[in-house]
Amino acid sequence: MNIPIVQTYTPPGFIDLGSGNPSLELLPLGMLKEAADRYFSAGDPRTLQYGAEQGNGYFLAALADFLSSMYKADVHPDSIFTTTGASSALDLLCTLFTQPGDTIFVEEPTYFLALDIFADHSVQVVAIPMDKRGMDVEKLEERLAEVQPKFVYTIPTYHNPASLTLTQRRREKLVDLAREHDFLVIADEVYHFLSYTQKPPQPMAAFSDQVKQVISINSFSKILAPGLRLGWIQAHRSIINQLTGCGLLDSGGGLNPFASAVVYHMIESGDLIKNIKKLKNTYQGRLDVMTETLDRCLPEAKYSKPQGGFFVWAQLPGIDTARLRKRAQSFKIDFRPGELFSSRNGLKESIRLSFSYYNPAEIENGIKQLADCLHMD
Ligand SMILES: Cc1ncc(COP(=O)(O)O)c(C=O)c1O
Repeated sequence: MNIPIVQTYTPPGFIDLGSGNPSLELLPLGMLKEAADRYFSAGDPRTLQYGAEQGNGYFLAALADFLSSMYKADVHPDSIFTTTGASSALDLLCTLFTQPGDTIFVEEPTYFLALDIFADHSVQVVAIPMDKRGMDVEKLEERLAEVQPKFVYTIPTYHNPASLTLTQRRREKLVDLAREHDFLVIADEVYHFLSYTQKPPQPMAAFSDQVKQVISINSFSKILAPGLRLGWIQAHRSIINQLTGCGLLDSGGGLNPFASAVVYHMIESGDLIKNIKKLKNTYQGRLDVMTETLDRCLPEAKYSKPQGGFFVWAQLPGIDTARLRKRAQSFKIDFRPGELFSSRNGLKESIRLSFSYYNPAEIENGIKQLADCLHMD
């Protein structure tokens, strides 16, 4: 019997190359145990009280130091707000800043589960195309002449699913447009720290000190563990004030004080940085195996090799990938078809493959099986 503990269950023998989850052996149980031991030894019951609205001050200070060293730019604890992850941050921002019927802009493709959050808030979604340099800000500017969005949702670095990164010039242009037309930019930066071959540009978070329109959301899901349900928003003081004053926090206090008090010890001990280094090494190795196997066994798949993140976004010209998926599932193999990532029923010849969940042998095997399935007729 399968007793549910995790969100997605993959039967034995099945390889789901679509899953964007970290593999179980990469979840840092040992480091967390040590952090939890230190937490419990400190014996401070205040961390089990309703928490301060912005988050535990020790956690915010440690996170600000960590971000300052990673971004090589000063990040002040006052500019950070603790969340229960990027998904809940997005939901909260929709609650605070949109009304049903408002328009928002997203990239095409975009993170498919964000589309579900936007649907919960009954907002109208307008797709802005992407090219090699990330969101096409010229096209964005053209759309702004027709409609005023409440916000633009972007995944600027190692995009899910496209693995593209918005160039510095386009980041600046996006911020200029946001100021000029007064819309918010919600930058989902959850993959920013997972760079493999090249340093990414400065995060969008770097603009948020000066520009009240820019909100960066981030998470420990990709750099520690999704089950912690812990993340943060970095934004201008005026936005942080709106967040801390919302009804959810009036009633429930700051978000996830327990997990943040434990993770504080992982940041302080240097274990968070150690863990990120380990993840980068592991994922880079898995990515290499995925692309080598694709090139060897599925040469018709067109893609650009990602420089970070979790995903290979490939085009299979002439193939309806939703139909291919059904056939693949009968071969005990799965992926995510492109249409899931489209807000306008497009991208039918694309697929998203993930290299985060399986070890190199499984990835190689999975891609070979996918190629067999595709080459069957
Ligand atoms: C772009 C993007 N945003 C948000 C999330 C979810 O983040 P969290 O676990 O912090 O809610 C994911 C996870 O796949 C993601 O890829």
